[in-house]
This record gives sequence, structure tokens and C-alpha cells, in this order.
Amino acid sequence: MTQNAEREQWGSKIGFILAAAGSAVGLGNIWRFPYITGQNGGAAFVLVYIALVIVIGSSVMLAEMAIGRKAQLNAVGSFQKLAGGLWPVVGWMGIVSGFTILSFYGVVGGWTIKYFFHSFTGLMAEGLAGKAGDVFGAFVSNPTLVVAYQAVFMLTTIWVVYKGVGEGIEKYCKFLMPALFLILFVLIARSVTLEGAAKGLDFYLRPDFSKITGTSIATALGQAFFSLSLGMGCMITYGSYVDKQTTLPSSAVQVCVIDTLVAFLAGLVIFPAVFAFGVDAGAGPGLTFVTLPSVFAMMPGGMIWSALFFLLLYIAALTSAISLLEVVSAYFIDRGWSRPKAAVIMGFLIFALGVPCATSLSGAPKVYGKDFFDAMDFLSSNVLLPLGGVFISLFVGWFWTNDARKEVTNEGAHGFTLLEVWIWICRVVAPAAILYIFYTGLKW
Ligand code: TRP
Repeated sequence: MTQNAEREQWGSKIGFILAAAGSAVGLGNIWRFPYITGQNGGAAFVLVYIALVIVIGSSVMLAEMAIGRKAQLNAVGSFQKLAGGLWPVVGWMGIVSGFTILSFYGVVGGWTIKYFFHSFTGLMAEGLAGKAGDVFGAFVSNPTLVVAYQAVFMLTTIWVVYKGVGEGIEKYCKFLMPALFLILFVLIARSVTLEGAAKGLDFYLRPDFSKITGTSIATALGQAFFSLSLGMGCMITYGSYVDKQTTLPSSAVQVCVIDTLVAFLAGLVIFPAVFAFGVDAGAGPGLTFVTLPSVFAMMPGGMIWSALFFLLLYIAALTSAISLLEVVSAYFIDRGWSRPKAAVIMGFLIFALGVPCATSLSGAPKVYGKDFFDAMDFLSSNVLLPLGGVFISLFVGWFWTNDARKEVTNEGAHGFTLLEVWIWICRVVAPAAILYIFYTGLKW
């Protein structure tokens, strides 16, 4: 572990917020949140989700940022420096999760690029002919093509991480996040003004409390961890580039608000459009790549809407993938590797690990790659990330408490009204809730 004096830093607080929000806002918001909300009781599920983000998500996020800023090191190094003993294992779990998540994330990231271009080259005609499902099936079972697009996606990810914290991650996120918001608002305006949009809003937003079960609460928690990029040291790593003047509690809250807002807004794009054209809203994971192209095909100027939507998805996926690669690379950079070497080698290894994932989709009937994604989803969202969250909370709540108090108040320079509430959430509420939900969720 080398302690370099000139550790890279974010150029500004807004740069840090946008980079962290870029990490959080991803496929999880635009692809996953809307369809699981649709399957789990609409507005009722959104309420449960928001409650979990407020109480548990924001607390764990603050805990991660505090650990990283104090230690000024990657996820493993931070625990080594602040505590030692077995604690670095938590960081190692994070590195492993980074590898796993990015290997399949890169595959889906490649799909977004393919669909962006394909919007102009036949996707609309296929959608109109009702062939979007077959076309998607044929695409994902063509290993060469899938791997080629995955490679392009990973190359862009590696490029940004290669350029560094300020000149790469921050610079691109400061440009891409506003672009993402702009595209999102244009698409919402289009979607909610379609004739018949109200039915979609009703489906998405009408609370159905009967659908809230132990399983759906577990789903909401897993979603919160995945969507907020928590439980694997991502915010530890990003926190390690924050200067000592930035206030952490407000940063954590801002990132949570942006992330939740984008997830919610993505549903406002998807459901009104899906209902306006009378296609199946319960399509699950295939909603984005199968259902939506048919919807765009029926709109005037569909090609443009489709391209905009997949561009949105690409941007969201890219700024998240960057953060996953950064977690892994930061470990090696702190061990003395140069940034280019770490980014290229790790990026390539993760790409290689993703190749079997990409090709495993060729198995014929799994058109939506459901089995594969279910397994990956389950392992990362429902096991590794919540477990990481438990240890991170316990660490702050019981072992590193006084230093944590100092770190989140900038050594007492900034008041933090909810300081003790936060400590108690880390101490008991978050670990108990996560473990309970984990237990009920794992049984289904
Ligand atoms: N939060 C991203 C999404 O919603 C994915 C992601 C990026 C992530 N970094 C992470 C998930 C770290 C878990 C941990 O798509």
C-alpha cells in the first residue's frame, strides 16, 4: 500500500456529486426499476422503496463516503488502514462484486450501443412487423456480435478510467449527466402527451398494497443497494477523492435524491408509452429491448425517439460502468500500478470474464437471458451487496464510531443534526433490517 501525497481529487463538489450520481444512475434505474415497480404493486412499491432509501440507503452511502475520505484509499486499503484484522475482507468482497457486476453490465452496455445504431437501420420496421422479440433473440444468441458490442462498450469505459479522476471520470460525468437529464425530459414530454398515456400512469402509480410482501420488500432493498451503488466500496473509492472541505451528509443526500428521481422518471417514459400502444407492460427484463422498440415504431418519428432512448441508456450505463472499473483499478493504483496499466489490464480481464456471460445467452429459449440475469442479479443485488452493507454499517456503528463522527462533521466544523440518529441507524437499524430482509428474501 503506497500512500501517495498527490492523490487525485475531484475538481469541485458538483463534479463529485455528478460523478457519484453518474455511478448510481444506471441500467438499474432505467431498465430495472420501472419493470420491478410494475410487477410489485406500483406506487405502493415506490413508497416502500423511498422509505428504504431514506433510512438505510442514505445512511450506508454516508458511511461509505466517510470511510473513503478518511482513509484516502481504495475499498480494501481503506479497511486495512482504518482497522486491519479481518475488515479488509469487506473490501475484497467489493472488488469481487465489481468484477462480477461489470462483466455482465458490459454485455448489456453493448446491447444499448447496438440498439442505438439499429434504431436507424431497421429496428422500426421490425417493431411494426411484431418481430422485435425474434430480432432481440437472434441478436443475443449471436456471440460474435454481442461480444463485439461488449468490446466497444468496455473500450469506452476503459478510456474514461484511463484518463483519470478529474480529466476522465469527472469531466465526462459533468457533460453526460446533464445530457442524460435533457434526454429524459424530452422523452417524458413525448410519452405523457400520447393519447392513452393516462392508463399507463394509472398502472405505474396506483398503489396496490396487497402486492407488498416480504419478497417485494427484499426486492426493494436489493434494488436500492444496486441502484445507489452501495455495498461494494464504490462510494468508498469515490469518497477517497473528496477534499476535506466538502460536506458529506449533504452530498450523500443529493446523490440519493438524484438517483431516486431518475428511476422514478424513467417509469414516466416507459409506462405511458407502453399503455398508449396497448403492448404488454408486464414483460419484465425484456421490456426495454423488446417491448419499447415496438412502441417507438408506432410513433411518428419513432426512429429518433428510439435512438434518443438508447443513447440515454448508453450514457447511464457508461457512467456506472466507469465507477465499477474504478473500484477495481483504484486498488491496483494504490498498490503502485500506473493508472493506464490498471485501467487497461483490469478492464480487459473484466471484458474476458464477460465473454462467457455474453455467449451463455445463446442457449435458445432464454430470449431475455432471464436465467442468467436472475442468477447474476441474485448473487450481486441480493447477497453480496446487502452483506457488504451490513459490515459497512457495523463498522461505522461499533468500531470506528468516533472517527466517523469527526469525519462527517469535517472535524466539528460543520453541524450535522442527525449525527446520532445516523450512528444508531448504522449500529442497529440498518444491519438488523438488512439481515431480516436478507433472510426473508433468500427463502423465496
Ligand atoms: N448503480 C448502477 C445502476 O443502477 C450500477 C452500479 C454501478 C453499481 N456501480 C455499482 C451497483 C456499485 C452496485 C455497486 O445501474
